[in-house]
Amino acid sequence: MAYLPPNLHAWVVTSYEDIEFVLRDPRFCKSIDEAMALFRANSPDGEQARERSSLLYDNMANNDPPAHTALRKPLNSAFTARAVATKREAMEELADSVLDAVAGRETFDLVQDFAFPYSISVICGMLGVPREDRGTFHAWVQTITGDAAATALARATEQMVGYLSKLIRHKREGDADDILTQLAVSLDEPQAVAQAYALLAAGYETTANLIVTGFLTLESTPEQKARLWRDRSLVPTAVEEMLRHQSPFNLSLYRYTTESAEVGGVTIPAGSVVFLAFAAANRDPERFTDADTFDFGQPRREHLAFGGGLHNCIGKHLARLETEVAFHALIERCPDLRVVMPRERMEWKASPTFRGLRNLTVGPGPLPARSCAPGKRAAS
Ligand code: HEM
Repeated sequence: MAYLPPNLHAWVVTSYEDIEFVLRDPRFCKSIDEAMALFRANSPDGEQARERSSLLYDNMANNDPPAHTALRKPLNSAFTARAVATKREAMEELADSVLDAVAGRETFDLVQDFAFPYSISVICGMLGVPREDRGTFHAWVQTITGDAAATALARATEQMVGYLSKLIRHKREGDADDILTQLAVSLDEPQAVAQAYALLAAGYETTANLIVTGFLTLESTPEQKARLWRDRSLVPTAVEEMLRHQSPFNLSLYRYTTESAEVGGVTIPAGSVVFLAFAAANRDPERFTDADTFDFGQPRREHLAFGGGLHNCIGKHLARLETEVAFHALIERCPDLRVVMPRERMEWKASPTFRGLRNLTVGPGPLPARSCAPGKRAAS
């Protein structure tokens, strides 16, 4: 879903107040066709932009109304807090089964062995991606949302489009009660493919990164970690503060100006590409006292981790619940969990949009499921 061609000349808005302003100002637009032309105009190496076809990007995340309304409205009901709450039990089972695979091990990788397989299974279950396909697209999404060279990017895009087109055609022939079938029967194929890509790509990496960086943050505040491990009713407030403090979607998708606009005393000319640094806004000292301090004793829910305005995250309730369930499972199954990887070996992914670690070795591995009393998880 991320689109940030190399060498692109763009504006980055960083303060909380200015980002809130831009999110609600109609002079900052999204329209994929206009944007493609603008990317070329604002990139000294215009060829780079051409390597990315718009096939995956012509979705709700990259278009304003009326296209945005037509694409988002039919999906809203599947992502309300109430609709998502019905998935809690399935999420708990998934978290447990992913932990079962590493139970009893001395160490495991919180990214590759838990956060990714768990969050991929959750979003694929909601969309209706066949179980056996759940590993296939992961590598392509990593390439597309990372900083891959143009040829690797073009190849991954082609593979992703091919895979999703086939899946959408298959869904159209069936009558399953899932989101991909809904997209397949209500949209033409290219639209359904691009919508499916937006939901898939945005729907697992961000949440997986939140679980991992959230745990890493707790490790550096041992008092708060101990409090949370003692009292699981605090999980929702801790997750909210992780969202603010870690901002897994650190830089927005593109917007562009249709006319010149003044932001924080600076004039951004018409025809400029603009990004919003949500992570910076969430640490803005003008907005949050002790902004750099992680403290779930005073969660700051007015953060911008899910963006805002028309394009606010459709998956926010899902992401919150999914992360809460993940922490309940970790606390229950891994009472002594700690990071066992030295800081200097931690590698952050090279992605303009998503902030996350490639690996995080933790231990000891989970207790076997049967050591945990059934149904003992605290509701949140
Ligand atoms: C911790 C997890 C997540 C974070 C931090 C996050 C963050 C965001 C942010 C900041 C935006 C706005 C981008 C912009 O304005 O340029 C956004 C949009 C979006 N997110 Fe999420 N997201 C998360 C999880 C999810 C999940 C689980 C889904 C799956 C359904 C999802 C689907 C989307 C979609 C489709 C959009 C575009 C919405 C629109 O343009 O109307 N996100 N997300």
